[in-house]
Amino acid sequence: MTPHKHRLGVFPTPLQKIPLFLERYGVSLNIKHEATSHYIIGGTKLRSLEYIFHELSTQNITDVISLGDINSNQCKIISILAKKFNINCHLFIRTPENRAALSSNHLFTKIANANIISIPVNKWLMVSAIANRLLEKLKRENKKPYFIPFGCGGFPGFFGIMELGKELLPAISSASQNYIITPVGSGSLYFALTHFFSQNINTNVVGICPFEENNHRHAHRFKQWTEELKSFILPINNLFENLHFNVPLHLKTLDEMTRVFQEYEVLLDPHYVLPVFLYFESMIKNNYFQKGSNIIFINTGSINLDNELISNIGHL
Ligand SMILES: Cc1ncc(COP(=O)(O)O)c(C=O)c1O
Repeated sequence: MTPHKHRLGVFPTPLQKIPLFLERYGVSLNIKHEATSHYIIGGTKLRSLEYIFHELSTQNITDVISLGDINSNQCKIISILAKKFNINCHLFIRTPENRAALSSNHLFTKIANANIISIPVNKWLMVSAIANRLLEKLKRENKKPYFIPFGCGGFPGFFGIMELGKELLPAISSASQNYIITPVGSGSLYFALTHFFSQNINTNVVGICPFEENNHRHAHRFKQWTEELKSFILPINNLFENLHFNVPLHLKTLDEMTRVFQEYEVLLDPHYVLPVFLYFESMIKNNYFQKGSNIIFINTGSINLDNELISNIGHL
């Protein structure tokens, strides 16, 4: 049976046409702005978390546990929703030694009063074991904890992304080749949209991962989600075909953020979506996409600023 959701955001989210792409590169580009679904917790992850929090309320969960890095959108959204649903929230945050003291996402998790447990980068490989210890401890205290994995993928979060797929249908062209560009972290968005469009031969989902990752970890997750969702999906063999890993991060982020805004009137999150967009731009310049294609770029998150970036602005 398809799971249920709490409606927590405003959907559908808008598409922004970028006319300069047609002029410059001969492709039609629209950007789907997912953050508009909520003024603080908007973003694609909210779609999955609508289903996950429904599950939490039907199971009478007392404590939610999750994890992410200091800029994590997932952790921000979970901490604020946990407050709304009166559930205790424990977050394991990957914390570099020389980290910028604060980013806006991290600030929100603090304001939402989440129990933040900092894990140094060199201990991060042990985070699952550490989280599991907390899970067991809470159970011994007669609480009902629930672990939300990195990416909110699998059952039931997958169904939130299916709704994004449905929202994209009116923007899919029957006359030309379509590409949907997705940022990739855990790969859950890419996985779900690839399934959604698997029967649509003129639509390719292209995933771009701006972090150091490897096929192995994604292969493991894809296998696990395929197993969890097997009564809802058909297995797909070539899941890696359109996945690009470890794309180079641009160091002069502020300059690139400024250029993208000046040229296209698009403001993108410097930590996540901007590097993906820059790589996508380089693919266009290298003729990866057919001329005349119809492209939809998913702007998955809101803008998260840290004091390091802001201090680079210099003196006004
Ligand atoms: C803004 C944003 N975009 C994309 C992603 C990646 O999504 P996924 O984990 O589904 O690959 C994340 C989370 O990691 C995110 O916060």
